[in-house]
Amino acid sequence: MLPRPTAAYAAHVPVTVRDATLADLPAIVDVLNVAVDTTTVYSERAYTLENRQSWLEARSERGFPVLVADREGAFAGFGTYGDFRDSVALPGYRTTVEHSVYVAGGHEGGGVGRIIVEALVDRAREASVHVMVGAIDAENKASIRFHERLGFVEVGRMPEIATKWDRWLTLVLMQRIIE
Ligand SMILES: CC(C)(COP(=O)(O)OP(=O)(O)OC[C@H]1O[C@@H](n2cnc3c(N)ncnc32)[C@H](O)[C@@H]1OP(=O)(O)O)[C@@H](O)C(=O)NCCC(=O)NCCS
Repeated sequence: MLPRPTAAYAAHVPVTVRDATLADLPAIVDVLNVAVDTTTVYSERAYTLENRQSWLEARSERGFPVLVADREGAFAGFGTYGDFRDSVALPGYRTTVEHSVYVAGGHEGGGVGRIIVEALVDRAREASVHVMVGAIDAENKASIRFHERLGFVEVGRMPEIATKWDRWLTLVLMQRIIE
């Protein structure tokens, strides 16, 4: 049995999802760097305001969403998707995207992650995306369970595909087909 997150706030407080702006980048950088330091996400490089600004612009130019969840005016998390594989060089992949979602400390376990991913699915559907992929480290049981609850199914495991903290890591690929 996995430990369940503690809801740090009342579940009835509404969550609003909107497109990210430059003003959200400090909060996005913070939540990413916390995940780098505390989880087996494969990035070990510190995120900066500068590299997130060019990233946000690149996402926008490609028509890929970066969505922010607000809860009573506070940043509660963000989600985004982009190419699964390079769909410019390999256009057969243009109907598939890979997403990521990060919920800010103190906002876990209250439905914020679900709301962000469902908003990404809505955007993907509007953009005629057919498959959304989550690429999750096998040690991140919370994220795997979360994605199962949102209708993602495991479709592959890649042992020893990455390293972090001097050990081999296994990638779990999960996908949801968007009707
Ligand atoms: C994983 C994460 C996105 C979940 O977000 P969240 O807002 O806490 O999740 P929600 O409250 O929306 O939960 C949605 C469902 O997932 C389940 N879930 C969420 N976290 C869970 C956990 N730690 N263990 C078991 N189930 C969990 C919930 O029980 C809920 O299921 P239910 O509605 O059937 O009860 C969040 O914990 C997070 O940002 N983690 C750190 C970053 C990360 O790992 N991102 C993913 C990288 S691939």
